[in-house]
Amino acid sequence: MTRPRPVIAIDGPAGVGKSTTARVLAQRLGYTLVDTGALYRGVALAARDRGIAWDDEAAVAEVALEAALGFAPQDDGTPRLLIDGKDRADEIRTPEMSAGASQVSAYPGVRRALLEMQRDLGREGGVVLEGRDIGTVVFPDAEVKLFLTASAEERARRRVEDLQNRGTDADYDQILAKIRSRDEADSTRAIAPLRPAEDAVILDSTSLDLESVVQHVLELVQACN
Ligand code: DC
Repeated sequence: MTRPRPVIAIDGPAGVGKSTTARVLAQRLGYTLVDTGALYRGVALAARDRGIAWDDEAAVAEVALEAALGFAPQDDGTPRLLIDGKDRADEIRTPEMSAGASQVSAYPGVRRALLEMQRDLGREGGVVLEGRDIGTVVFPDAEVKLFLTASAEERARRRVEDLQNRGTDADYDQILAKIRSRDEADSTRAIAPLRPAEDAVILDSTSLDLESVVQHVLELVQACN
C-alpha cells in the first residue's frame, strides 16, 4: 500500500445506503468522509443562485470552475457543504437539487472541474469517498473499492421509511419512478457512467442490514493493512 491509511471508495446507485454506510465507516475508523454527490448538488445550486439554467452546459461548467465549493467539518462527522463560504448543506437536499445534480453531472466540463478537488480531498488516505465514479475515475488506485447495489424496489421502500421517520409524507410509486429515472440517467451518460470498477467488491444489500455491510467493508480494510 502506497498510502499509510487507505482510500475507501464506495460507489452505487441512488438510495442504496452509500451515505449511511460511508458515515458509519468514517466514524468507526476515524477517517474523513467525502460525499462527492454534494459537490454536484453544489454546482446545481450555485448555478441556480447565479440565474443560470441547468441546460446551459457551457455556463454551468464555468460555475463549477468559479464557485468555491468546500466542506466544513461537523462534530458528528458529517461534513457540511459550503458554497462561496456559506453553509448550503440543507438546501442541496431537495428533490429539485437531486434532479439538477443528475443533469449537471453529465457535463464533461463539470466533471473535470470537480475531479482534482476530489483527488485533493483524498490524496493522503484515511478517507471514505462515496459517489458514482470513485473507484473507476477519481481513485482507480483506491485500496478498498465497494460497489453497493440493491433492487430499485428495496431502495424506494427504504426511502419511504426514511421520509416517514422524519414525519414527511411519501408516495412509494412516485419515489420508485424517480429512482429508476436517476438510475437510467446516471448509468447511461457518456462520461463516467455509474458502473462497478473491475476490481470492486460488489455487495448486494437488498437483504443485508447496515451493520453487515459495515462489517464487510471493515474486513476489506483489515485485509489491506
Ligand atoms: O449521491 P447523490 O444523490 O447526492 O448524487 C447526486 C447526483 O450527482 C447523482 O444523480 C449522480 C451525480 N454524481 C456523480 O455523477 N458522480 C459522483 N461521484 C457523485 C454523484
